[in-house]
Amino acid sequence: TGLITSDLGYKSTGATKSAITFLNGEKGVLRYRGYPIEQLAEKSSFLEVAYLLIYGDLPGADELSKFRDGITRHTLIHEDMKMLYEGYPAKAHPMGVLASMIGALSTFYPNAQGSELDPEEVDLTIRRLIAKITTIAAWSYRKSQGFPIMYPQNKLDYCSNFLHMMFALPTEEYEINPTIVKALNTLLILHADHEQNCSASTVRMAGSSHASLYAAITAGVCALWGPLHGGANQQVIEMLEQIHSEGSDVARMVEKAKDKSSDFRLMGFGHRVYKNFDPRAKIIKKVADEVLNELHIEDPLLEIAKSLEEVALNDSYFVERKLYPNVDFYSGILYRAIGIPTEMFTVMFALGRLPGWIAQWKEMRDNNEPISRPRQIYVGPNKRDYVDLENR
Ligand code: CMC
Repeated sequence: TGLITSDLGYKSTGATKSAITFLNGEKGVLRYRGYPIEQLAEKSSFLEVAYLLIYGDLPGADELSKFRDGITRHTLIHEDMKMLYEGYPAKAHPMGVLASMIGALSTFYPNAQGSELDPEEVDLTIRRLIAKITTIAAWSYRKSQGFPIMYPQNKLDYCSNFLHMMFALPTEEYEINPTIVKALNTLLILHADHEQNCSASTVRMAGSSHASLYAAITAGVCALWGPLHGGANQQVIEMLEQIHSEGSDVARMVEKAKDKSSDFRLMGFGHRVYKNFDPRAKIIKKVADEVLNELHIEDPLLEIAKSLEEVALNDSYFVERKLYPNVDFYSGILYRAIGIPTEMFTVMFALGRLPGWIAQWKEMRDNNEPISRPRQIYVGPNKRDYVDLENR
């Protein structure tokens, strides 16, 4: 009947009760386990935030050091997984590689599956995932460039080790730049969770069938890949590059985004929940300014992004619809500044989001949530009888 309506895109569905992330989209507030994102971005480390999200509280010094050690000890991936890299085409998108490699981890660790979970096994899987995603991601980049892979170095902290595996030359010691490490740490923290977004909901839904955590995270990576979600960060830079190459006419791009006869949207603008500034975008914009300054980089795309923001925020189309820059708008400029290539941007989002996905999965399993199984409103044909092929 006309009274029954579906909720496309789950715009009004409270799918679960969650104690992980608080978000007020009208006011632009984001907190992990109660802690404001601004404080965590300034003071915390990514692994500390990962612990907070997954286990519910900030770790004590001993807990943090054990958590860190546990992760450092699992950064190597099984040597046989190296052979899998040989099978991908040279131009394989690293998100495709990441999804299949995380899926492949489940075949090396088959114990992490089932309805009865052993808490120690779960903790081990969590550490393995957070450790190995850096190696998998960095190696997919090295392979795409035809560079030899770099093994992890356990003496390095999480972010430095990732940068080492990405950029070290086999013949030289990789020189750690503290500005770059700090910027990476901030970016990962800002991406670490965002309540029931598309990929987190996917992780919870896949995991609700009691598929393994590896399988659930693989599903999350695939959901993140799309341009309306994590894939937006790559598209923002491609859009800014296009504006730059066409003479920096930002107003034209804004007009194009308003034109409903095309599917084009201003990438990095708008959000399902934020109807105000995305607090993450505010922080990234400020950090991008600082980092570019410290590294003496002049990136014309930063100026283009700023004027695009200004034009859009003064345009009635964007004002009426409350479309503000989101986390993806300035993140790409910061990734570029620290040397991350464009096709790796969404992989970087996945690296940051992993603890959030794990926390969402763990909360769902700890609370014994039932299998996710939405209903529908059937709008197909009524009963009709089969017609033999010769009579159609
Ligand atoms: N450019 C132009 N128009 C837009 C944009 C945009 N970026 N975003 C939304 N609109 C318009 C949309 O056309 C619609 O207009 P109307 O009411 O006239 O039909 C109105 O604003 C509401 O948009 P919606 O599509 O109903 O909103 P949604 O909540 O379903 O979608 C969104 C949210 C993020 C998918 C969307 O804003 C978008 O496509 N943005 C661009 C892609 C992007 O930056 N994604 C990253 C999101 S943040 C990080 C993440 O989640 O990964």
